[in-house]
Amino acid sequence: MPSDLTSANTMTGPLSTRLELDDIQRGVLHQRPSPYVGTYLLLRIDNPEAGRSLVQRLCPVVEFAQSSSDLAQNASISVGFTYQGLKALGVPRDSLASFAPEFRQGMAARAAELGDVGDSSPDHWEKPLGSPEVHVALSVLSPDAAQLETLLDRARRAHEELTGVQVIWRQDCYQLPTGRTSFGFKDGIGQPAVEGAGIPGTNPEEEPIKAGEFILGYPDETGSVGPMPTPEVLGRNGTYLVFRKLHTRVAAYRQYLRAKAASREEEALLGAKMVGRWPSGAPLALCPEQDDPALGADPDRNNHFVFGDDLRGFKCPAGAHARRANPRDALDHEMSVNVRLHRMLRRGTSYGPILPDGVLEDDGADRGIIFVFVGAHPKRQFEFVKTQWLNDGIFIGAPAEKDPLAGASDGTGTFTIPQRPIRRRLQSLPPFVITRGGEYCFAPGLRALHWLAEPHTETAE
Ligand code: HEM
Repeated sequence: MPSDLTSANTMTGPLSTRLELDDIQRGVLHQRPSPYVGTYLLLRIDNPEAGRSLVQRLCPVVEFAQSSSDLAQNASISVGFTYQGLKALGVPRDSLASFAPEFRQGMAARAAELGDVGDSSPDHWEKPLGSPEVHVALSVLSPDAAQLETLLDRARRAHEELTGVQVIWRQDCYQLPTGRTSFGFKDGIGQPAVEGAGIPGTNPEEEPIKAGEFILGYPDETGSVGPMPTPEVLGRNGTYLVFRKLHTRVAAYRQYLRAKAASREEEALLGAKMVGRWPSGAPLALCPEQDDPALGADPDRNNHFVFGDDLRGFKCPAGAHARRANPRDALDHEMSVNVRLHRMLRRGTSYGPILPDGVLEDDGADRGIIFVFVGAHPKRQFEFVKTQWLNDGIFIGAPAEKDPLAGASDGTGTFTIPQRPIRRRLQSLPPFVITRGGEYCFAPGLRALHWLAEPHTETAE
């Protein structure tokens, strides 16, 4: 256990915060290497002793923000536990009860609320996702395949030979050198800066977000320290993770655009209007007419924008995916909405083969993204954004519209593209994203991992 935690000053004043970087998992604060290859493993714990041995063995293997031996290479192993996993480890009842209610329920129980219905409902999820068997999630990421094997070996040594621990799911994943995911768009650009993390932000128009929005135990944007699991050693420096395996219907998406557009140029424009960025990552807010690959590739410029000069959405529609997910200053006139309370760190990744350019027929392959959310408030961050901003349109004055790319579409939806002289309205949007499953996890700090590796007795009621 680290005795002398490395700290960073984040602010002055009554709520002065020092982020204990040695105690926060590296994958929480740091972007992933690009490109990279990786593997997600889900494990089941069959008895608490074996589970605690697993945790013990993971302590030296999981990377922390400032203690990484592989820092230069950006390789990392991260760990999260589901509520069922904490139970399987024998965490006492009063401590279990102190976790966020949605985490305790688990993602499958939240399905109707999240819009995971029809083909996306838990009845159709890939086994064992969403089942009480999922206890531990490991993510192993590395810049290349050789290093990945070394890291996987390390992770394997932590769980093999433990008869009470079983690997029950494996998903390989990757990020292409272009950063593009299955629909062909560069992803992972828009990320908030975390106060005190020492990692510069990419949007100078957005002040760094208070650390307590992402790390438990610190002041958040409300000005106070939010609810935290107890005892403090367990909760502090931890965070919640949401992971979702999202299958993307790339051929259906391409066919839809082809059917709606009069030319290839218009096809590209409609696709960009749905996302809010061009395939290169260049934002419509900065280049509304055509893609600008140099802008898309420039991290100093590709996230430096707001929507205040485009409130009616002539450049970037209010209903575009990225603008819904982060409306920036576009809701400033709505006094009741503070966008800073709904920000999230994303650590998404691609899985499955890319459908070759130009192919419009479905090849039957499973492809998409593993969406990963990191934040201290899963309900008002991930769940709020998914339900109020992606699956609803009240906040942009279009109650019947959902996110055209990632919303819970059912084939009847519309997407409005403001333009002069008259707006364009795309009709009958099919679902382009199907949820294959997922879980809510808790990613503990290092001291908490050590605590989880020890047996704890129930406190008397
Ligand atoms: C398969 C499903 C999804 C795909 C293909 C997808 C794709 C994208 C793309 C291409 C971008 C623009 C690039 C960027 O700014 O990083 C983006 C941005 C974003 N997406 Fe998604 N996304 C998906 C699901 C989701 C979900 C479910 C959420 C949240 C509940 C979400 C939240 C965000 C956020 C917060 C941004 C950044 C917005 C900004 O800061 O400008 N995405 N996504």
